[in-house]
Amino acid sequence: MKAICTKFLGLALLTALPATLPAATHEVTVSIDAAQTGPVIDKDVYGQFAEHLGHGIYEGIWVGEDSAIPNTRGFRNDVVEALRAIRVPVVRWPGGCFADEYHWRDGIGPRDQRPVKVNTHWGGVEETNAFGTHEFFELVDLLGADAYVNGNIGSGTVREMAEWMEYMTSDKNSTLANERRKNGRDEPWEIAYFGIGNETWGCGGNMRPEYYADLYNQYATFLKAPPGKRPKLVASGIHGEITEWTDILSRNVSHDRMDGISHHYYTIPSGNWEKKGASTGFEESEWFSTMERAYRIDEYIRVNLEVLRKNDPDEEFGFYIDEWGTWYDPEPGREPGFLYQQNTLRDALIAALSFNIFHEHARRVTMTNIAQMVNVLQAMILTDKEKMVLTPTYHVYGMYKVFQDATSIPLEVRTGRYSMGELSVPAVTASAARGTDGKLYLALANLDPQNEAVVTVRLEGADADAAAGQLLTAAAMDARNTFDEPEALHPVAFEADLDEIELPPKSVVVVELQ
Ligand code: AHR
Repeated sequence: MKAICTKFLGLALLTALPATLPAATHEVTVSIDAAQTGPVIDKDVYGQFAEHLGHGIYEGIWVGEDSAIPNTRGFRNDVVEALRAIRVPVVRWPGGCFADEYHWRDGIGPRDQRPVKVNTHWGGVEETNAFGTHEFFELVDLLGADAYVNGNIGSGTVREMAEWMEYMTSDKNSTLANERRKNGRDEPWEIAYFGIGNETWGCGGNMRPEYYADLYNQYATFLKAPPGKRPKLVASGIHGEITEWTDILSRNVSHDRMDGISHHYYTIPSGNWEKKGASTGFEESEWFSTMERAYRIDEYIRVNLEVLRKNDPDEEFGFYIDEWGTWYDPEPGREPGFLYQQNTLRDALIAALSFNIFHEHARRVTMTNIAQMVNVLQAMILTDKEKMVLTPTYHVYGMYKVFQDATSIPLEVRTGRYSMGELSVPAVTASAARGTDGKLYLALANLDPQNEAVVTVRLEGADADAAAGQLLTAAAMDARNTFDEPEALHPVAFEADLDEIELPPKSVVVVELQ
């Protein structure tokens, strides 16, 4: 996608007008040649992250078999059903920083004999280890998802990690494989991805990239799985605009030991970790800064892919964004270490603009994991005891699921800018693809909360003059679903002619071109 913007005009206006412009219409043109094909958008771009953090696992997913909340072998039925509906392709577990202190043996065997630890990172609460390796694989099985297991390089040993891999994947008559069988699982599990460390620049060990690259090689050497069963091995990269880790890892880790480098990026409205901004009740200036900061991931991906182009010209390494999303101030009255936050229409727009960016980099960005799946940060689902709500972000995942494994189609977007002060983002972002069902899909996000956009689609290489699908929008910037009003915000049916698709202010649309 190439965004051509009326930047010049936008800047000229900015000097003369107040920050919030009066209502106007963005005239946008999207040119698509359906005969052109780009890379496949890997379904794993729509992956999730589930950490032992707050109520991300306990209460949010796992309530135990004896709970009054309807469950299947301890897993909440409502949450599992809702997640199945958006076709979660892959789940990363057990952390995050939690993974850096996780010792897998604590989470196997009879539950009443598992050790109780302290979750030092997240609220200092007791970690019962009731949810461990077997429960994780049962969860992904219930969801129909693949497993992304994150190993502990920060405080674990090479032997511990190697033995976990053997426990999970061995089909032999070894003591470890037999221990797995004794604990109830006969067949080895399939692991799609295995992370060797998490945030090794910070909570995962405060390492230098050179040191971590050596450690990575050492740990990866001893991670053995049966032939054809080795997961994709993921190196822990850095965050934001930094490229040094991508550079050092891609030069110092051999291609047969690494399949991808992970990268993290959180959108914090203020850019200040001490006072990030509230999840609700914000002004337009904060809406804007959230869009503007989220949009930066495009540049951060670009500069890192530039490094990979140099060090890995054959494109063997993936670039995985295995933590991303919005991060606001803790909700008043809640345990700050639980990272529980509300989720509004603003988060829906952030999800859509991020997907449109990920699609553009689909060749290398083949997996991402939003942080996090339930009750933590930019969640799909919020729970309160037996109650559950689906967030606006959940609905965007539902609308975009047609892009899973779809073949991207390059497009050109001519749009004005949504501006504030000296900063601006494209008012409308878009992506197009041919779905696995053979249909043509277009996604559009109008980031401007004040002004509508009218999109003209110039389509070549396919015969269509109408668009039909779904629209997500609301009157308030912080519109949301609550436990009292769980259906306040949901997608509605949407139809338009291709030469005049009217996007309301602050809206997401996904349509089939017919
Ligand atoms: O997602 C919350 C935390 O953010 C993760 O545990 C950590 O990896 C990151 O800093």
